[in-house]
Amino acid sequence: MELRRLALCMAFFVLAVSQCSEARHSVRRRETFDDDVNYDDNLLADEAGDEDTQNDTDNDSQPEPIKVQAVIETTPTFYEVESGADQRLECKVSPDTGTVVQWFKNNMPYFIGGINLHNEEDRYAIAPDSKDLLIKNARVSDSGVFRCETVQQSPIAINHTLLVTEKPKVVNMSSSSGGVVGEGSELTLTCVVTGSPVPTVLWSVTRKGQENERLTEKDGEFSADGNIYSLYIKSVKRDQAGKYYCYAFNKVGTHQAETEVIVQRKPQVHVTRTIVNSDLRIEAVLQCSAHEEPRPHFRWYKDGGLIEDSSSNYKIITHGSHSNLTVFPTDDADFGTFTCEAENDFGKHNRSIELVQSPVVEDLEVDGSKMSWIVHSHQPLKEMEVQLKSHSENGEWRRLTVPLPEGSRHTYEVTYLLDDKQLEAGQYEAIVKVKNSKSWGGSNEPANVNIEVDTPVEYIQHASVYRGSAHSIRPAYTVLSTILMYLLVRML
Ligand SMILES: *[C@@H]1O[C@H](CO)[C@@H](O)[C@H](O)[C@H]1NC(C)=O
Ligand SMILES: *[C@@H]1O[C@H](CO)[C@@H](O)[C@H](O)[C@H]1NC(C)=O
Ligand SMILES: *[C@@H]1O[C@H](CO)[C@@H](O)[C@H](O)[C@H]1NC(C)=O
Ligand SMILES: *[C@@H]1O[C@H](CO)[C@@H](O)[C@H](O)[C@H]1NC(C)=O
Ligand SMILES: *[C@@H]1O[C@H](CO)[C@@H](O)[C@H](O)[C@H]1NC(C)=O
Ligand SMILES: *[C@@H]1O[C@H](CO)[C@@H](O)[C@H](O)[C@H]1NC(C)=O
Repeated sequence: MELRRLALCMAFFVLAVSQCSEARHSVRRRETFDDDVNYDDNLLADEAGDEDTQNDTDNDSQPEPIKVQAVIETTPTFYEVESGADQRLECKVSPDTGTVVQWFKNNMPYFIGGINLHNEEDRYAIAPDSKDLLIKNARVSDSGVFRCETVQQSPIAINHTLLVTEKPKVVNMSSSSGGVVGEGSELTLTCVVTGSPVPTVLWSVTRKGQENERLTEKDGEFSADGNIYSLYIKSVKRDQAGKYYCYAFNKVGTHQAETEVIVQRKPQVHVTRTIVNSDLRIEAVLQCSAHEEPRPHFRWYKDGGLIEDSSSNYKIITHGSHSNLTVFPTDDADFGTFTCEAENDFGKHNRSIELVQSPVVEDLEVDGSKMSWIVHSHQPLKEMEVQLKSHSENGEWRRLTVPLPEGSRHTYEVTYLLDDKQLEAGQYEAIVKVKNSKSWGGSNEPANVNIEVDTPVEYIQHASVYRGSAHSIRPAYTVLSTILMYLLVRML
């Protein structure tokens, strides 16, 4: 502190010496001219008073005009410069000679006349033959209010504002636990962003197999502390995994960074079919998958008993998140319940597949009065029927025989019309039963059927046309939002 004050005092002293001639002018003028004329700053005048003995060596050949109150001709200005460039802040005073100005930055004195009061800041200088302040290699921290003020009894001043701009830069983007989090745990994403003016930061995510999507308050809590921007998700869900983007922009540029977030959890097993038809000496492939991280380990069971990898009756092929069990039944006992189990550090999960000799009915659908389904059976079909039950009270099952499809295949696509079956109008639930040479099988989930008496065919067509046009609105909207998101994320 003392050193600083000393330095300041010395600075004022040097200034006083350098400006003493000016001061003497005024002293002499006081003697020769009217006393009322204003003179330079007290500080300088006082110094001059002690120097009566010293001679005036100035060029005095021309009589100077009466010294008047100086004015600043420069008007307050908003300067904007990109960081790294030079900027000159103007301060034109009249009269120019004999007037001393001080420069302040945010009220801190930086210069008196040509004297730098901030010697550590050597990028600042007074431009030659002027009172303008020169800033070289401007930095964002140079931004502020610069005051040019005359040194005189009634000082006058102007304030310039300097904004040093800088393109945004995401200096660092990181996520808690290195971006690998267990489902249900906390996740914090952090971006360190520089730039001037202070950049705006947007967050977005590209979830697996989806478009990039802007994150909003419903996705997490956003905060900013200085230039550190954060996104906090209290309890991460599996579908929040993906690539997270931190996008910063201000009026001079944009920049973004990205980081991958992996959500770990116990596996969820999916099976392609829950019931599979096969026959003796017909190979059946049972398919199972589990996509979780960390990648699970698969095991297969037959009626609860573990199938060893070495077992010769089965073939297990596991590739990444998929596992196939190939069964080659040679005996009725080889049919039964097969279970696929996937296990990782977070736990295990299983789903079962029935391998049967009975027919399997799949994809039962109802469109108006038209029913359709698929039958799988390696054994020849013997009988097929639709069973209907009215939703009304005391509804009884009504059986409608369905003609068997021609030929002998393993898969049959069947369609069946209910129009001409003299059904009373109303809601029904329908199931399909199929018998093959081995046994009965059927659909496991009943389908809902709505019978409308005198249903005009046009009505059904209208309904489907309407559905079609309703869908056609969406793609246009999706394309537009896709473009917007693309621009948002890809603008660099
Ligand atoms: C001061 O100036 C006067 C005339 O302006 C001169 O007569 C005198 O010798 C000078 N004195 C000195 C010390 O230079
Ligand atoms: C005094 O200044 C005038 C003009 O400012 C110049 O013409 C003259 O040569 C100068 N005289 C001396 C002795 O410096
Ligand atoms: C310049 O700004 C300072 C604060 O930074 C303020 O105190 C002062 O009044 C302003 N002067 C003028 C001339 O606007
Ligand atoms: C980014 O920030 C993280 C967390 O603060 C830190 O561990 C990491 O070293 C930083 N990376 C860089 C490149 O600065
Ligand atoms: C499958 O999971 C259920 C429920 O966790 C469990 O009771 C059953 O024992 C599992 N089955 C096999 C074969 O691991
Ligand atoms: C499982 O079987 C299906 C159908 O045969 C096949 O497309 C898939 O590639 C197999 N997967 C593995 C891991 O062998």
